[in-house]
Amino acid sequence: MNVLWYMCAPDGAYPWQPEGSRKVDLGYYKQLALAYDQLGYTGALFATGAHDVWVLASALLSYTERMKFLVAIHPGLVAPTLLAKMAATLQEFSRDRLLINVVSGDAKMLGAYGMTMPHDERYDMADEYLQIWHRLFAGETVSHHGKYFQTEGAKLALPVGETIAPPPLWFGGSSDKALDVAAKHVQTYLSWGETPEQIGAKVAAVKAKAAEYGRSLDYGIRLYVIVRDTDAEAWDAASDLYKRMDERAIAANQRFVSKTDSVGQSRMTAMHGGQKPENLRDLEIAPNLWAGIGLVRPGPGTAIVGSPDTVIRTLEAYRKAGVETFILSGMPLLEEAFRFGEKVLPRLDVTRHVAPARNYTWSTLFDRDLSNAKAS
Ligand SMILES: Cc1cc2nc3c(=O)[nH]c(=O)nc-3n(C[C@H](O)[C@H](O)[C@H](O)COP(=O)(O)O)c2cc1C
Repeated sequence: MNVLWYMCAPDGAYPWQPEGSRKVDLGYYKQLALAYDQLGYTGALFATGAHDVWVLASALLSYTERMKFLVAIHPGLVAPTLLAKMAATLQEFSRDRLLINVVSGDAKMLGAYGMTMPHDERYDMADEYLQIWHRLFAGETVSHHGKYFQTEGAKLALPVGETIAPPPLWFGGSSDKALDVAAKHVQTYLSWGETPEQIGAKVAAVKAKAAEYGRSLDYGIRLYVIVRDTDAEAWDAASDLYKRMDERAIAANQRFVSKTDSVGQSRMTAMHGGQKPENLRDLEIAPNLWAGIGLVRPGPGTAIVGSPDTVIRTLEAYRKAGVETFILSGMPLLEEAFRFGEKVLPRLDVTRHVAPARNYTWSTLFDRDLSNAKAS
């Protein structure tokens, strides 16, 4: 299985309030990258936040040896040829540690960049974008005259497909249009932390779509984790967060998410409806899965809460629903990465990066010796 952690501001013990936030700068990101790399996570998700993901990933690359960089892209904000070139470069420099997370954002956020297309059309545009992307990474020279993009003789100069593998495409989006683009183009379909039952239904829907294109995908989920030695201690930690979720923070978040056109967000909001019940366990929407975080945070709003055994049991419930990739986070990112990394990760069968041997292996040296001997 793949287990990734999260790499994005804001962070802190209670990041929705100023006194609970931590300064997230390059020095702190370096600490996160070193921790994830050494603890043995498969990689980290670089989500589109305050810092640019490409600059951030490039800045952290040389501090890491084996973690993968799952870098979010919004199709259409950068010309496909340029973005493919950026990806090929990072893929070469990282020795195949780049993963791309294709996300379609929402109208409000994209409007700031000048993209005013309505929701469903964004996916039509993404479809065309990804067609060009695949051809570039297949090493083709691409002259494309489509509805949204034009290229004349586009070609990646780097040896993609030879010594540089195309970076795998991952994807987040829950609308019908999103499922169709995922089924057609990507390798791994991601969902925010819905219940194992809901994920099972989503996996079945994406599988059915993918079968129409003769394809099969892998599946992943994005969740928070609150792990402590016992279930009671974990729920105490959740309770500590809950107490600090004040009315103002909840109202501000609900205002923010109510303006979105994201189906994925609506599905997350439905888990709590913007209401804070007296008892935090009323937001336990499936065994050990708590929807409280979504009250103050847009996007992924659920956490697995419990002891290491409980957390592993819950991960297993998702695996039974077809999920083999877990993108996790906690508050603060660094401390919870250590807790999970020391209490749970060693008990999981985690996939880690093995760098491709591009230069010398003993056998290439022997072969060279032999051919020199033959030549002389
Ligand atoms: C795991 C995951 C990660 C995501 N990361 C981002 C991100 O970094 N930036 C972003 O704008 N949206 C991100 N999204 C949100 C998608 O863009 C979102 O699902 C989209 O806004 C709405 O699509 P939909 O209406 O098809 O659900 C992510 C979604 C998932 C499931």
